[in-house]
Amino acid sequence: MNSGSPKLVHLSNVNLTLASQAGTVDILKNINLDIETGETVSVVGPSGAGKSSMMMLMAGLEAATSGLVEIDGNDLGALDEDSLARFRRDAVGIVFQDFHLIPTMTALENVAVPLEFARKPDALSRAQARLEAVGLGHRLDHFPGQLSGGEQQRVALARAFAAEPKLLLADEPTGNLDSATGEIIIDLLFQLQKDHGTTLVLITHDQRLAKMCNRTITLKDGRLSESKQDTSSALVQQG
Ligand SMILES: Nc1ncnc2c1ncn2[C@@H]1O[C@H](COP(=O)(O)OP(=O)(O)OP(=O)(O)O)[C@@H](O)[C@H]1O
Ligand SMILES: [Mg+2]
Repeated sequence: MNSGSPKLVHLSNVNLTLASQAGTVDILKNINLDIETGETVSVVGPSGAGKSSMMMLMAGLEAATSGLVEIDGNDLGALDEDSLARFRRDAVGIVFQDFHLIPTMTALENVAVPLEFARKPDALSRAQARLEAVGLGHRLDHFPGQLSGGEQQRVALARAFAAEPKLLLADEPTGNLDSATGEIIIDLLFQLQKDHGTTLVLITHDQRLAKMCNRTITLKDGRLSESKQDTSSALVQQG
């Protein structure tokens, strides 16, 4: 399946057009983007600019209307449904803004789900270790409704990292949290990213958080532009 591209993320002339009641909408316009393995990239831009839509394309949850979406050497447009499902299971972790935890499952079961999908033999003990790593070893048997917002977000992070994906996509992971809890989540996110060498794409409205990444790209009205970071300040910010 690997077509030999050295980039983990390679988007070339990508367009996304969706149909709505008011007619077709051009959501992403001629996007070109390369991300190396291990890079951290923040995505900023106004509401409705297409940030989440671009993340859905990278996750293989939405198909591009035209252009090439290549993740870890996989041309997503060329994969059938089964191969796409396998790709999502093995290569990508997603942290959604509103957590997307399964309400009828405990914290432990939520984190074990991707491991069970990946047929890991010791899903529950691995899930427990992940939850301990995010400071929730004492909340394994709590249901999402019995956890605070920050705790739910930590479960979502533990789940996204559980199967050790190469690419982690996080859509405003601190959007719903107070600033102190947000700080904890961000430290955790970058710590996990460093420990695993994960490539991180982080959508955020928080400029300070955006600057903690190696690069920042801006989406405006479906078009992408990029400004290089001052890496010295990025290092200071990451501590
Ligand atoms: N299924 C759909 N059909 C038609 N238009 C859609 C669909 N999904 C999203 N859109 C439109 O696409 C545009 C981009 O949406 P997207 O969710 O990617 O924005 P965003 O940059 O993530 O915004 P926010 O910061 O508010 O989360 C918006 O104008 C939205 O209304
Ligand atoms: Mg969004």
